[in-house]
Amino acid sequence: MAKVISFASQKGGVGKSTLLMLTATALHKRTNSKVLIIDCDPQKSVKETYQTDKDTSNGSCDVITYNWNQPKPEVNFDKTLALAESKYDVIFLDLPGKLEGADVRFSLLISDIIIVPIVASTLDINATISFLKKLPEISKVKKEKGYDLKIFGVINKKDQTIEHNKLQELAGIGGIQLFYSPISYLVRYKRNISTSEDITNPMDIEDEFNQYFDEFRTKCEV
Ligand SMILES: Nc1ncnc2c1ncn2[C@@H]1O[C@H](COP(=O)(O)OP(=O)(O)O)[C@@H](O)[C@H]1O
Ligand SMILES: [Mg+2]
Repeated sequence: MAKVISFASQKGGVGKSTLLMLTATALHKRTNSKVLIIDCDPQKSVKETYQTDKDTSNGSCDVITYNWNQPKPEVNFDKTLALAESKYDVIFLDLPGKLEGADVRFSLLISDIIIVPIVASTLDINATISFLKKLPEISKVKKEKGYDLKIFGVINKKDQTIEHNKLQELAGIGGIQLFYSPISYLVRYKRNISTSEDITNPMDIEDEFNQYFDEFRTKCEV
């Protein structure tokens, strides 16, 4: 049974798609896991990156898009997922930066794990808190059906500002557990983003991405 991991936040621009692609690519390249990305964002930024890559290189993990503007989208999503679950070990969902809407709610309900990228600015922190406060309801519905939901926060675009001191206050809200390993604001995450190339040498244990990735694998058990 595949594990479903969503990258979600009601805020756009916090790094959902970036972290998802980096993580999915590293998992695909470094382990034997069969990895699928389902791009559920109408902007389709992950799918577009993948298509650009495919022209020049091979070896990306599989990427499909899911269109919510169709009759009975939940029923078809269930079918898509049932097929995917027999073929893949880990399924990543890239969600749009919003909170309302049946699409986001449904995607969260079918997730085993939600990763919330967190950026340290007052606006982003407030939006994250609103998002986290909606999650206990999702956890409750899942629990009633006998499923567990894990919620992790990853600090992204870390810089030297004092706003970073405030982030620990988020710990525990809505059941979130913060990663120890942050991702810095670095040009390499803007430029070298790809679904077919690993961001860094996996052997470099000092590298912050590798530290994040190790923590991801341990916490998400993948
Ligand atoms: N750690 C980072 N360092 C530098 N730039 C980043 C980082 N994470 C994301 N970005 C940039 O921020 C912008 C928004 O990221 P994106 O992944 O599209 O966010 P979201 O999917 O949450 O809307 C993109 O231009 C991306 O390249
Ligand atoms: Mg995105």
